[in-house]
Amino acid sequence: MAVILSGKAVSAAEREIIRQKTAALVERGVTPCLAVIIVGCDPASQVYVRNKHKACEEVGFRSLVIEMSEQTTTEALLSKISELAADDGVDGILVQLPLPRHIDENAVISAIPPEKDVDAFTLPNVGAIMTGAPRFLPCTPAGIMKILEYGGISVDGKECVVVGRSNIVGKPMAMLLLAKNGTVTVCHSHTGNLAEVTGRADILVVAIGKPRFITADMVKPGAVVIDVGINRGEDGKLCGDVDFESVSQVASAITPVPGGVGPMTITSLLSNTLASAERRAEKLF
Ligand code: GUN
Repeated sequence: MAVILSGKAVSAAEREIIRQKTAALVERGVTPCLAVIIVGCDPASQVYVRNKHKACEEVGFRSLVIEMSEQTTTEALLSKISELAADDGVDGILVQLPLPRHIDENAVISAIPPEKDVDAFTLPNVGAIMTGAPRFLPCTPAGIMKILEYGGISVDGKECVVVGRSNIVGKPMAMLLLAKNGTVTVCHSHTGNLAEVTGRADILVVAIGKPRFITADMVKPGAVVIDVGINRGEDGKLCGDVDFESVSQVASAITPVPGGVGPMTITSLLSNTLASAERRAEKLF
């Protein structure tokens, strides 16, 4: 049976460190502030935004949640972003995705000043991650690296396989593993013989959004398995992209769903916002 890598525990430990650093910063007159914009009323996005707001308050940040209607125009959204960009008291700006289809997502992301882009979605910040000098770390991949670190799992020289090539998880994940000297392969829907590639992995990261897709026969005995998926299975229960029941019998370590990668994404967001506030404080004093 594999060791369970609890993101929930790592997250609690990291948030306590963030809470203490925030208290020290507040003493110096700087309160970290995250502004989150949500457009429309997608129920999943509403839950994510509520969780971000709650997490900010728990560590002592100021949290602004800006709710805009489904009919909001790109121009109105850009105008709100430039208002927050000009506000010296705001350290991080996050626009919850997905946006309604009529909104130009690229224009919206590009309007966020890179120094307040705590999601690390803007082109300068993505470029900085690519070249190994990140301003902000991408939230979910950074959370995964923390889980590995707390688990005492070294990436150096390991065969790493990432399943999924999204801009939010798969691609930046590959960059962070590469930066730690992993040998990285990225698989996707056009990969031939996926099981053969995943079966080579010492560290397997799965982010494809297909419930229980990775089964024990696709995993090398002793591998470390990181499950980024959050799906609702046919039984109505939350499940990941990995078939936990069978894969936990062959893996040496595995993240559960829920309680694995999930809580780490917001923790990384808090960490990026704190870093931004610390840079603001450095300029002030
Ligand atoms: N929607 C799903 N994940 C994310 C995320 O990490 N950031 C933003 N802004 N929107 C998301």
